[in-house]
Amino acid sequence: MNNATVTVIVPTYQEFDSLPSLLTAIELVRSESLPNLQVIIVDDDSQDGTEALIAEMKRDWVQLCIRTKDRGLSPAVIAGLNAANGEFCVVMDADGSHPASAIPAMVSALQNGAEFAVGSRYVSGGTTEDGWGFLRWLNSKVATVMARPFTKVLDPMSGFLALRKSSFENSHQLNPVGYKIGLELIVKCDCKKVTEVPIHFSTRQLGESKLTLSVQWQYLQHIIRLLRFTHPTFVSFFTFAAVGLSGAGFYVLANIVTSQIFSTNAVSIGLAAWLAMSWNFIWDRKYAFWNSQNRSIVKQYLGFILICTFPLLCNYFITMYLASENYNIPLAALYGASIGSAIGIVFNFLMTRFFVFEK
Ligand code: GDD
Ligand code: MN
Repeated sequence: MNNATVTVIVPTYQEFDSLPSLLTAIELVRSESLPNLQVIIVDDDSQDGTEALIAEMKRDWVQLCIRTKDRGLSPAVIAGLNAANGEFCVVMDADGSHPASAIPAMVSALQNGAEFAVGSRYVSGGTTEDGWGFLRWLNSKVATVMARPFTKVLDPMSGFLALRKSSFENSHQLNPVGYKIGLELIVKCDCKKVTEVPIHFSTRQLGESKLTLSVQWQYLQHIIRLLRFTHPTFVSFFTFAAVGLSGAGFYVLANIVTSQIFSTNAVSIGLAAWLAMSWNFIWDRKYAFWNSQNRSIVKQYLGFILICTFPLLCNYFITMYLASENYNIPLAALYGASIGSAIGIVFNFLMTRFFVFEK
């Protein structure tokens, strides 16, 4: 017997059919090894009889919490973690994918010094039930690879996890979007020592999966948000470079148009350059320097244009020179823009980062 106080959080959305067998399995764990175990079911107003079911079961260690706003797996898990009063918190799915029998091992892992425990399919001894279609398998693999910059855990996608309530309370800037609350918690609670407990991951028997395309889109956004949190300068520079590349393409196209309209090179090139600068400004402000959107846009725009002038002058003179050497305009503009951008990318990034989009 282990006297630890444990709160098991089970997020549910229309899991009426699966709940009885889950609670039976947890009850067994409770009577065999963890007598001080409580369950909080966090239901997003399923209206499928879950409420009556829990009331009828009359288990005083099971509490139902119904949320009516902000539907979603991660916010539901956070609500459960906030409400938990055990020293240890475990989060698991309701559909039978996660074996309740692994709960004691996960709690022991925390008691033995781990900061976080994951019920893992991919660690030695873990398995996944056959019948996962190729697409779901691929999906899970790709998602796991994308989580690699944040953690070395082999199964960071697992929604079966355990941590101390105190670690959760120490988390900062939690941003629960989408499905991958485990990854979010590992990063934001700064959990270094993660133990993976092997589990057999079963395929759900009853009800339907809630994994939809929009959930996968949310995951992508989640990864970007986490990258911004852990590697802000890298993300900023990478985005700035990508915007710069698109700006160079935009400039060449704009030049083709302006050179048709204006016969004076200085005018057509100048106009195309100004349009391209504005293009870059819009996207840099939105994506490369996401933290500074609350500053005066006019001041930022003027500063941005001013800084861009230096590499642009390089660009302009190179383009003019090549044009005078009988290159045609789009080609001259391409060379001019490439060389100008190479100079500009470092110069502009540093200057705009520190003088225009400062935090
Ligand atoms: N409260 C609440 N609100 N619960 C939800 C919601 C929601 O909007 N959406 C899903 N859930 C609950 C489900 O009722 C279930 O208990 C659990 O979250 C997982 O949902 P499934 O629909 O079974 O998800 P899955 O099988 O596609 O994904 C599972 O496998 C992934 C690993 O492949 C989940 O365990 C993920 O957490 C896990 O990462
Ligand atoms: Mn499932």
